Amino acid sequence: MLVAGTRPNFVKLAPLYRALAARKGPRLMITHTGQHYDHAMSGSFFEELGVPEPEVNLEVGTGSHAQQTAGIMVRFERLLDSHTPRWVVVFGDVNSTIACALVAAKAGVPIAHVEAGLRSRDWTMPEEINRVLTDRLSDRLYAPSRDACENLVHEGISTERVRLVGNIMVDTLRAQLPTIDHATLLREYEIKARHYVLVTLHRPSNVDHPDTLRQLWTAMQEAGRREPVLFPAHPRTRSRAVEFELPPATAGFRLLGPLPYRTFLGLMANARVVVTDSGGVQEETTALGVPCVTARLNTERPITVIEGTNRLVRPHASSLLEALAQADGRRGRIPELWDGQTAERIAADLLEASSGA
Ligand code: UD1
Repeated sequence: MLVAGTRPNFVKLAPLYRALAARKGPRLMITHTGQHYDHAMSGSFFEELGVPEPEVNLEVGTGSHAQQTAGIMVRFERLLDSHTPRWVVVFGDVNSTIACALVAAKAGVPIAHVEAGLRSRDWTMPEEINRVLTDRLSDRLYAPSRDACENLVHEGISTERVRLVGNIMVDTLRAQLPTIDHATLLREYEIKARHYVLVTLHRPSNVDHPDTLRQLWTAMQEAGRREPVLFPAHPRTRSRAVEFELPPATAGFRLLGPLPYRTFLGLMANARVVVTDSGGVQEETTALGVPCVTARLNTERPITVIEGTNRLVRPHASSLLEALAQADGRRGRIPELWDGQTAERIAADLLEASSGA
């Protein structure tokens, strides 16, 4: 049973679903927790990435962390009462991940965690709590990089459970990139390759505080005077901007809705620089060799800074503008095993583990 709930989960699920479906393996079942529910944040990804509609949708929707996590747990427990999967596979670090891992662990169903071992060491970040606890509960831990394996070993997790498999998001990126018509995309958005900034910001630490969001907003407006700034905003960011009465978009600073996967990937691939606070975007820009400015003080993905194109910058207007001015054509290095074959490695290992279990 493959379980996903949010936009980045779907991007990670798709290649693993396909790799498992291509093998003569067990029956596959996709469960959607319903954490993300807008078509633009959810359904469109299944269509684009060629994955069948989830068999079950738990339709949990929005709520506080406790409401959302508990809501998923109650519904997922009911599901596990009527189905007994051989494995539950969870992805990433969102509330859906920890909720389903906790239920599966108590139901005695083995758990595989894809994207194990990432650590920001920032316990104020809800995702960090989800990461540590999910890894502790998992039987198979699929790590995207060596530093992630080391984190797990330092936490006392047996190396027998850990597999270094590479970054599964890169599988989707590599499969989809050649299908994009870049010239048409650039024409549609009236931009030139390497002459615009792409922005995504949605983390509570950045967008839930009026002063911080205002700093970021000011920087984007200012940058928009020099080159086009495209900002496909997450629903949370958009509603906070309205709540905090931030100034409207301008000709240079363009506020858009959430974009389909391929459109966003194409815009990332051609940007001069990307500004983000997302985990996945830090990795995708490294895989693409596009400079990335991350408006955060820490990252659970240090490899994107050490080997890739990422730079951490405090979420403050002057710091961001300085980083944007300094962003060069640095292409970085593609980390080990970020080769588009991660799902194949996981599928092979998971089926071997199932037959041996
Ligand atoms: C979640 C993840 C975050 C991940 C992000 C990716 C957790 C703790 N956080 O954050 O790690 O980076 O997904 O996008 O799980 N909303 C809609 N429509 C939707 C989904 C959300 O309007 O389809 C709005 C709701 O008003 C909601 C807000 O966005 O209150 C936040 O959604 P939520 O699922 O709580 O967390 P994200 O911020 O999306």
